[in-house]
Amino acid sequence: MPVSAPKYSGFVAVRVPTATVRIRGASSVRALPVHCDTIKTWKRWCCASPIVLAMASSGEDINKSRPSFWESKWETSSTPWDCGAAHPYLKRFLETGEYGRLRQQIAESGVSTDESAPPLKPRSALIPGCGSGYDAVLVGAFANQVTAVDLSGIAVKRMENLAREADLTNVKGVVANFFVTQDWMSQGAPFDFIFDDTFFCAIDPSMRGKWARAMKEVTAPGSILLCSVFPNLQKPDGPPYGVSPQAYRDVLLPNAFKEISVTEIPAELRARAHITADSIDMAAVFVRE
Ligand SMILES: C[S@@+](CC[C@H](N)C(=O)[O-])C[C@H]1O[C@@H](n2cnc3c(N)ncnc32)[C@H](O)[C@@H]1O
Repeated sequence: MPVSAPKYSGFVAVRVPTATVRIRGASSVRALPVHCDTIKTWKRWCCASPIVLAMASSGEDINKSRPSFWESKWETSSTPWDCGAAHPYLKRFLETGEYGRLRQQIAESGVSTDESAPPLKPRSALIPGCGSGYDAVLVGAFANQVTAVDLSGIAVKRMENLAREADLTNVKGVVANFFVTQDWMSQGAPFDFIFDDTFFCAIDPSMRGKWARAMKEVTAPGSILLCSVFPNLQKPDGPPYGVSPQAYRDVLLPNAFKEISVTEIPAELRARAHITADSIDMAAVFVRE
């Protein structure tokens, strides 16, 4: 069972599964097999090392995230996915009040929601793999607070510049690996709205289960996860890897999410038809139970 540890002086509060905990010392990284079932145990380790980082992800997971690949994409401006604007479907979803209607529907269906959350707009939203941040900034105009996470410092800087130009101070950029949740989840979790726009197709398919577990970890019952299903086709090589509504179901349904809808995105609201004309782009909505 995961255990939550409070913030000890100078250390980051973390949630740790019964698994390997990596302790990063000044010059080495070593892994200790840990059965952490008490806060006391935590305190002992925290005090034993100058820098303690509890990682739900293994070193292999971090390698599979390919940080240098993504950083080099940004460094060389090889960012063909970048549309220069927020996803038109997201724009319509927010501007027509679809988010509010969905929240209402979820509340009526009996899935418990955070009563303190404003009903019609997200209290705290997350944009994973935010890239240049068009989606994050758009959501920032609707939500109380937005956290935009990306591996690349260049991407996050772009996002921050956009937010500044839009005069938004509620959009926070975090340079972090999505799979190392403790590095960023303290910045706004639980999130009641998450928009995944071509992040799922960017990650190695073997990481999809971890993607879903991270989504579960950073949400609460009633949270809404909106995913742009792109590219919706068979494409085993990547990134981008081919995805499908079923690929989302496979990992989200066992991780406390329920499918609300899968809708074909009308031609005029497609974001990347110029990249992959063959894809039948869809919008998939899941709710955290
Ligand atoms: C295909 S791009 C999508 C960017 C943005 N969502 C958009 O629609 O323009 C994928 C983004 O995810 C970031 N990324 C890839 N793996 C990541 C990881 N493990 N953690 C955080 N960001 C990651 C990349 O740096 C890149 O900006």
